[in-house]
Amino acid sequence: MRALRRRALLTQEELADISQLSVGTIRGLETGRIRQPHTGTLRKLTDALTLSNEEARALAVTSRVLPTRIVTKPDTGPVPAQLPASIPSFVGRTEPMWRLDTHLTPGDGATVTQAIVGSAGIGKTTLAVHWAHRVRRQFPDGQIHLNLRGFDPHQSPLTTCAALHNLLAALHCPPHLVPANPDAQVGLYRSLMAGRRMLILLDNARDAQQVRPLLPGSAGSLVLVTSRDRLSGLVTADGAGLLTLPRMPLVEARELLARRLGVQRAAADHWALDEIIEHCDRLPLALASAATFANRHPEASLGHLAAQLRNPHQRLDILSGSDPATNIRSVFSWSYTTLSPEAARLFRLLTRHREEEITAKKAAALALLSPAEAHQLLSELARLHLIEDRGPDRYVLHGLLRAYGEELTYPALRAS
Ligand SMILES: Nc1ncnc2c1ncn2[C@@H]1O[C@H](COP(=O)(O)OP(=O)(O)OP(=O)(O)O)[C@@H](O)[C@H]1O
Ligand SMILES: [Mg+2]
Repeated sequence: MRALRRRALLTQEELADISQLSVGTIRGLETGRIRQPHTGTLRKLTDALTLSNEEARALAVTSRVLPTRIVTKPDTGPVPAQLPASIPSFVGRTEPMWRLDTHLTPGDGATVTQAIVGSAGIGKTTLAVHWAHRVRRQFPDGQIHLNLRGFDPHQSPLTTCAALHNLLAALHCPPHLVPANPDAQVGLYRSLMAGRRMLILLDNARDAQQVRPLLPGSAGSLVLVTSRDRLSGLVTADGAGLLTLPRMPLVEARELLARRLGVQRAAADHWALDEIIEHCDRLPLALASAATFANRHPEASLGHLAAQLRNPHQRLDILSGSDPATNIRSVFSWSYTTLSPEAARLFRLLTRHREEEITAKKAAALALLSPAEAHQLLSELARLHLIEDRGPDRYVLHGLLRAYGEELTYPALRAS
């Protein structure tokens, strides 16, 4: 019992709360004081700990209860538990997690869809996975994770057909029963989801169209979608909740670096630490890469690292490791290459604009466009979070993206 509870990362009090049993009962079972629990008690524990049929059977046998009185689920295969591991160094995101918790409150019977959107490397996937682990016990029929590859340099986005095949496989539908017709596949998927309480994480979605056929039709499940796209269509037409993930607040960014550099090293030079954070635009991916670089040079002071980051192009070099998944230039390029040629041109031209805020009028003057055309292209850049939308006709291009944009026009600026 104790091992099963610890595996579920629950305290005795939390398990008591979820299973609706008393803490005394949980303690009694763990210490062996209660040797023959009631069948009802075991059922509650089986549900609360989301035990597989095999585990429930084992628990029944050790408790001298007939297994068939506890194991009520049909044996159709393992309950999907596909969430990737949450990173051990996860920090902060208190406010976004609070907002996600609020949205989870069961509504009027529809499936809850929640979108987490934001710029490349802002921490969407990390947050979605971490939070999904926190709430997964509310979805006893399983958790599915699907990478929709919306912004992948080497592979095209997952087609609806491929995505549905993956989802149906996770629901233990034998491949020979999957119909060829896409509409029939959606129908089968929705039928299999009916009555289930599952958490589905659709990671790195390209846009709303890619996600829409993957939404279950019945109540009880939660679909969590991450994307660099704003997913406006999913919010407007499908009632999805929207969380636009901001850059990390300063306090959380300091905590992230302290976790990765060690508290002592981080505390040794507050000024340098804050300068590094600002050079990284408070972008978690950049902060994590800066910490990796600093850890490769333990003899160097943080002041030295901060100074190296002052030149924007040297900064991109330092933050661009050999792994394409975390190399900041590659990560930005996956958004840039999805732009229309006109929006890509404006993005490059915006790097010449030295004031903090950009308006449609200023962008129009830079690119020799009409304000209406400039407005449309700025909207495209903001939709993909390549510029930050700060309210009606106010946009900001952050330092790392500006440096990346400059290098597109003048490759010679690259230090390496
Ligand atoms: N809350 C956090 N705590 C600690 N590290 C974090 C956090 N969020 C993000 N990171 C770090 O930043 C990196 C990038 O985050 P993540 O992959 O979640 O970004 P993303 O927004 O999903 O990017 P993409 O648009 O490329 O999919 C992670 O690998 C992790 O190292
Ligand atoms: Mg992601």
